[in-house]
Amino acid sequence: MGYNDVVFEKDSVFLVTGGAGFIGSNLCQVLLEKGYEVRCLDDLSNGKESNVEMFQDHPNYTFIKGDIRDLDVCLDACDGVDYVLHQAAWGSVPRSIEMPLLYEDINIRGTLNMLEAARQKDVKKFVYASSSSVYGDEPNLPKQEGREGNLLSPYALTKRVDEEYAKLYTKLYGLDTYGLRYFNVFGRRQDPDGAYAAVLPKFIKQLLNDERPTINGDGKQSRDFTYIENVVEANLKACLAPSESAGEAFNIAYGGREYLIDVYRSLCKVLGKDIEPIFGPERKGDIKHSNADITKAKQLLGYDPSWSFAEGIDAAIEWYKENL
Ligand SMILES: NC(=O)c1ccc[n+]([C@@H]2O[C@H](COP(=O)([O-])OP(=O)(O)OC[C@H]3O[C@@H](n4cnc5c(N)ncnc54)[C@H](O)[C@@H]3O)[C@@H](O)[C@H]2O)c1
Repeated sequence: MGYNDVVFEKDSVFLVTGGAGFIGSNLCQVLLEKGYEVRCLDDLSNGKESNVEMFQDHPNYTFIKGDIRDLDVCLDACDGVDYVLHQAAWGSVPRSIEMPLLYEDINIRGTLNMLEAARQKDVKKFVYASSSSVYGDEPNLPKQEGREGNLLSPYALTKRVDEEYAKLYTKLYGLDTYGLRYFNVFGRRQDPDGAYAAVLPKFIKQLLNDERPTINGDGKQSRDFTYIENVVEANLKACLAPSESAGEAFNIAYGGREYLIDVYRSLCKVLGKDIEPIFGPERKGDIKHSNADITKAKQLLGYDPSWSFAEGIDAAIEWYKENL
């Protein structure tokens, strides 16, 4: 269980793209703690220097400020790298509906550049962030790889195209690629601010400040909220997965199902707040229910998530209390 026992060769070099973001900075942190060399590539368009400044003086850490839309930047960053953990992308379904062209550039072209750079530089494994949004309007639960529906946003389309390119790079060029379909990740350093912030950190911050959060829709939507430590585990284990499992995409979640209104009520309870939420309109492109079947990742990656939603939310709240 977890990633404590995951070990790589002593001199292993990791490149984390989007390393100054929420998930990327957590990957950098764990890899440095484990003693490996880490390169962080980020253009700081959405990530923050404050997410990575604590690594700045670490002898095994290098920060590269650069844009994955530039192939030369990607080639330089991949030079001498064993494992790529590609997280850089623009997130948010609603924002992608407003700016589809930008999403095409960053999420598709940027990922293609990274795949090409990894191929040219003989990287051992290319692990990349996909998303549960690729399931689109497929109504059946739990969501299962191979049973995808019609896409509902440009963001989802970019992730689907990334998966197809990665599969092709495995088939045509023998690059070992592993797509991780994250389901609503949460935890330390996730940004609570801005119009496109994820719901959990936003609610926690608003409640801590005695503000009234807005729930989009009736609150009866459900999600498979996944604590960051489980996502780190999935990334590390995918780096050690056999080549026979390459070219595939895997659900990365806890395998649970939480209703937003219940989550809201338990946040209020834990934080000792008695604040009624505002109920706003549903968001375009959102799916009503999401819950993952994680059997494939368990069987082929050895993924065995150890952090339940309840444990994760307690840890996240503690972090926000100390760091906001
Ligand atoms: N957080 C979630 O719940 C979730 C769910 C599904 C998928 N994902 C995916 O996981 C990955 C990481 O998500 P996150 O939540 O950490 O987001 P984040 O925004 O915190 O991190 C993304 C990072 O990528 C960087 N970036 C963006 N465009 C770039 C570019 N052109 N060149 C270099 N760097 C660039 C940003 O500055 C940022 O630091 C993304 O690919 C996202 O689509 C996240």
